[in-house]
Amino acid sequence: MQTFDIVIVGAGGAGMAAALNASKEAGLKVAVLTKVFPTRSHTGAAQGGMNAALAYRDADDTVESHFFDTVKGSDYLAGQDAVEFFVSGMPDLVLELESMGVPFSRDERGRIAQRPFGGASRPRCCYSADKTGHVVLHALYENCLKQGVTFLDEYNLLDIAQTDGQLQGIVAIDLRRGEIVSFRARAAVIASGGFGRVYWSRTTNATNMTGDGVAACLRAGVPVKDPEFVQFHPTGLASTGVLLSEACRGEGGYLVNSEGERFMARYAPEKMELGPRDLVARSIETEIKEGRGFGEGMKSHVLLDMRHLGAEKIMERLPQVRDLAMSFEGVDMIADPVPIRPANHYMMGGIDVIDYRTCATVVDGLHAAGECSCISVHGANRLGGNSVSEVVFFGTQAGKAAAATARRRDFAGTSRLEGLEADWRRRFDEMRAKKSGKNLFEIRDRMAEAMWNGVGIFRDEAGMAQAERVVDACIADYADAFVGDDSKVYNSAFMNYVEVGNVLAIAKAVVMGARARTESRGSHSRQDFPARDDENFLAHTLVSLEDGAYRLDYRPVSITAFKPEERKY
Ligand code: FUM
Repeated sequence: MQTFDIVIVGAGGAGMAAALNASKEAGLKVAVLTKVFPTRSHTGAAQGGMNAALAYRDADDTVESHFFDTVKGSDYLAGQDAVEFFVSGMPDLVLELESMGVPFSRDERGRIAQRPFGGASRPRCCYSADKTGHVVLHALYENCLKQGVTFLDEYNLLDIAQTDGQLQGIVAIDLRRGEIVSFRARAAVIASGGFGRVYWSRTTNATNMTGDGVAACLRAGVPVKDPEFVQFHPTGLASTGVLLSEACRGEGGYLVNSEGERFMARYAPEKMELGPRDLVARSIETEIKEGRGFGEGMKSHVLLDMRHLGAEKIMERLPQVRDLAMSFEGVDMIADPVPIRPANHYMMGGIDVIDYRTCATVVDGLHAAGECSCISVHGANRLGGNSVSEVVFFGTQAGKAAAATARRRDFAGTSRLEGLEADWRRRFDEMRAKKSGKNLFEIRDRMAEAMWNGVGIFRDEAGMAQAERVVDACIADYADAFVGDDSKVYNSAFMNYVEVGNVLAIAKAVVMGARARTESRGSHSRQDFPARDDENFLAHTLVSLEDGAYRLDYRPVSITAFKPEERKY
């Protein structure tokens, strides 16, 4: 067993911002456990930028406007106190990142450039061409190294140990050595990223985005909040789901159907292609359903036309996007429109954070930040550009708060930690020794297909009930899953097994939350309940797991400044 004052799980934008800030407190031993080398974390896939109202460069933009746009975008489910706190801190945070070495693109006067993004009333998305997440990740990593943060690469989270609401520590697998290891800690920050791989068949998420932290929290008695709110990014590449940034539309790209029509005029006459993501994704799917798309089945798509922007602008602002379209779709956007279709992209729900200032959970000592958490600043629909902002902002908060926790709190006992470590060691041995069983990847794919078809962009009771039946059957089959690799060192098949267990546990929470919410709000669009129902559902969903049984509860939303009204774009 190793001992650290603070253990951070995940080395994306949130984890590294937490590590950087926690380690500024002299004398604290901080370790970051990460599945992949830190600069390979999924924050690096964030392309288009990060939102902040920079009044010094745009006198017409304000923090209040960013606040309102975010709340409206969330379909009034975001916690308004948390949103105000977040957007108020963003202008300074962008300048701090700049001073840490983030090479933001510049406008003609040399100031940080900002581009329009969906659902925003001003161009407030700060960017570095179309590699914003990548450069933020590198700057954070370099600063963490300067600060002396300990990174434990290829350590994958298995479980969180707590008893009586007191954190004991973290159990992980050291993949490189094939060892189950445990970490005793005064404080921990879970910053393990999203769980888009619940929608394995069509997602912009990397294959390791399997919600390990969220599932571990569920098992440790921490609820998942609002899991039914799933974001589908409007422009995934048609054949793979690889992300084509919203920056394409921010820079002026058009969405066009098979009749050559800019169809967004029908759905968002004022905002057009820069409507919020839930609305644009639904509009594309409606065009396809009503026969104005191209192709069939999973190959259905519409077109993203960038040709009128010209080669120079595309090469300067969107070089990676152009490259991705050429590599994965075989199309050069300078010369031809690109086939696109919505793909799962982001989870608005996640680990229930009960204090937005400290990112604390119900377990004393345990904090959560980034996409794995639900604070909630995105409510039922996140605005593009608010994610990189959120992960760095709340990662910073969580890191500072974890340092305060570590100062205040002594180590708890180790009984649960030792028990979980022994359980996982036994499981690792048993799974490696097992000679036959159910095919893990068949189980995973069956779940993913059911989730895409039944709990996708449009939902209804019959489709979701069918999806839940499939998920239940998959969970039952998983109990007899077969790993098929008896090696200790780098047993990635065992890790796949752990990950499939995690996505299954979360898929169940997603479908339960979705079935119970008999209204439409933001990304949760029910054909059998098309209206928003503030009387009954202006509330956060909480899904808990107790003795193997799932439970649903609700918590009121914090409304401070803006009374819910109909969203129009
Ligand atoms: O489209 C994008 O560049 C993604 C940005 C985001 O999810 O915030």
